[in-house]
Amino acid sequence: MHDDFIILFRTNSILAKNIKTKRKALVTGGAGYIGSHTCLELLEGGYDVVAVDNLSNSSKESLNRVQDITGKTLTFIQCDLLDKVQLGQIFAEHQPDTVIHFAGLKAVGESVVHPLDYYKNNVLGTATLLAVMVDNGIKNIVFSSSCTVYGAPKTLPISEDSPLGAVNPYGRTKLIIEQMLKDLQVSDPSWSISILRYFNPVGAHQSGQIGEDPRGTPTNLMPYMTQVAVGERKELSVFGGDYPTRDGTCVRDYIHVVDVAKGHLKALEKLSENPGVIIHNLGTGQGYSVLEIIHTFEASTGQKVPYRIVKRRLGDAAAVYADPRLAELELEWKPSLGLLRMCEDSWRWQLKNPKGYS
Ligand code: NAD
Ligand code: WQD
Repeated sequence: MHDDFIILFRTNSILAKNIKTKRKALVTGGAGYIGSHTCLELLEGGYDVVAVDNLSNSSKESLNRVQDITGKTLTFIQCDLLDKVQLGQIFAEHQPDTVIHFAGLKAVGESVVHPLDYYKNNVLGTATLLAVMVDNGIKNIVFSSSCTVYGAPKTLPISEDSPLGAVNPYGRTKLIIEQMLKDLQVSDPSWSISILRYFNPVGAHQSGQIGEDPRGTPTNLMPYMTQVAVGERKELSVFGGDYPTRDGTCVRDYIHVVDVAKGHLKALEKLSENPGVIIHNLGTGQGYSVLEIIHTFEASTGQKVPYRIVKRRLGDAAAVYADPRLAELELEWKPSLGLLRMCEDSWRWQLKNPKGYS
């Protein structure tokens, strides 16, 4: 009887400790491409998840599938970041420990045509989110930045201290937000802020249940190529064959979206040490040309990709790839999925979901 009591007492203490230490992450833009993959990893990592999204560029179905894949539940709330009142209610009700902030508009070309939409949504949206966090005493955030903040790099690979200089409104919103976060941390050093600069996320979860679902005509290479391969589009235009690269086409640092998602969990762990503002590249360090991507995709999937080399796309740099060593050193994060897996997983998602989530 006495022993039973001790065992029960110990079990309850362990349970109480687990309950107390279980962390709750509020994920803005959680229904989107990278957000949904990160929600999945958070659930698998034992986090409670509250996903907030206005669904302007996503479908709630992504999160239904995240729950199906993991067998775990999350809370989804449709809310626009600019709605400070609703956002405040969400924080008050759910009391997250930490925030991962994906929500934003991300199309470079669209940002040139509609810059005010980008400044309003991305910059004002983030300022609103941060104000609500201040009101609720939450001072941990992981922010989705981008390699776009480096503009056209003068030296390669790109390390975190390389010169900054975005060349389009979308990129400038990322730079402004990065600066806003740094200023906030100077004003109150108890903030812990992780800025992750992703290179070119591609691929999909291995299940083929969640993936990238661009609205309208894709502007990024991988979704355009998979739509060509599945017969949705006639051929891929390769933008420029006369760059000073090994085969004349542009070189980029493609990184599997699952590796990107896992990077966020590593960043969250680091934030618990209150490191101030930390900035890390999330890339592989390996650059591939457009033609190498096409040929690897064809070899790994057995699918032909009809393509034609056309003139350069305005604003494209010849080569962009990361120096990823700082993330490995400080976050203990290293990408594990190579280009073959990126192609195979993108293709599986495309095949299973030729019309995306709709
Ligand atoms: P995505 O469009 O799939 O996801 C963004 C999500 O935010 C969408 O679900 C959208 O509905 C939501 N959203 C937008 N504005 C909102 C608002 N005001 N309130 C609430 N929700 C809002 O894009 P993604 O590819 O998953 O990108 C996520 C983040 O990563 C973005 O901030 C993007 O700029 C950044 N990023 C993306 C890439 C990339 O190539 N995909 C590269 C570098 C950085
Ligand atoms: C990759 C390569 C194109 C489409 C963008 C954003 C960047 C970041 C990542 C958000 C380039 C070529 C493409 C096509 C092609 N996103 N291409 N035919 O431009 O490197 O980066 O996404 O932060 O900010 O700018 O990615 O996928 O558009 O292009 O030949 O139909 O494929 O020229 O070399 P990009 P991408």
